[in-house]
Amino acid sequence: MGRDVIVACDFSSAEAVFSFLDKFTERKPFVKIGMELFYAEGPQIVKEIKKRGHKIFLDLKLHDIPNTVKKSMAVLSNLDVDMTNLHAGGTCRMMEGALEGLTRPDGTRPLLIAVTQLTSTDQQSMEEDLLIKEPIDKVVMHYAANAKKAGLDGVVCSPLEAQKVHDTCGEKFLTVTPGVRFADGDIGDQKRVMTPAQAKEIGSDYIVVGRPITAADDPVAAYNRCVAEFVD
Ligand code: C5P
Repeated sequence: MGRDVIVACDFSSAEAVFSFLDKFTERKPFVKIGMELFYAEGPQIVKEIKKRGHKIFLDLKLHDIPNTVKKSMAVLSNLDVDMTNLHAGGTCRMMEGALEGLTRPDGTRPLLIAVTQLTSTDQQSMEEDLLIKEPIDKVVMHYAANAKKAGLDGVVCSPLEAQKVHDTCGEKFLTVTPGVRFADGDIGDQKRVMTPAQAKEIGSDYIVVGRPITAADDPVAAYNRCVAEFVD
């Protein structure tokens, strides 16, 4: 799979997501399904969206003991998703277990991406709440390196970190980057943003775009603009 735009379908019901996806009659976007929609509608929503011809990034960020994550990943793999994720903070053993669980009998598997430190975590909360005293950039790169060592395919990171991740883990290690906004668009609650064109320039492999597309007056035009800036 090459560079692509992933649309964050942060809806709370099947009805809302289908009425959104119905608008896309030509190119079918790669879709991110998060906890909200998955917990509201269950695994069936994944099967239905897949049946409509979309690739799926199932964003459930697993974090548990290695055995539980391994078995849960086997279930997600059976749903035939294209990409899924976990927290690198669950340790290398957990990540290795996840990969094992995800691998199907024929050797194929969805891409597995690690969350390093959430962008909602800052230096202060990391030090005070988690008792991690190292600089956050160092922690993020260490977690990315652990993910690489465990055999994962890449990390979710800010577009501003993508180049450094590639420098640390190699060009083939994937960077999946949210926090994307059009140059003339609303930033909303995202703090550090980049345009799709900038994200392409700094080497993001996948951009995850939600509200600039889902809340646009013309979502298909907004999606096509992302594709034109980032993929073409
Ligand atoms: O609407 P917006 O473009 O901000 O959506 C970005 C998507 O990426 C949301 O689903 C959000 O949860 C997710 N995300 C993020 N920042 C992270 C990790 C995930 O915005 N660090």
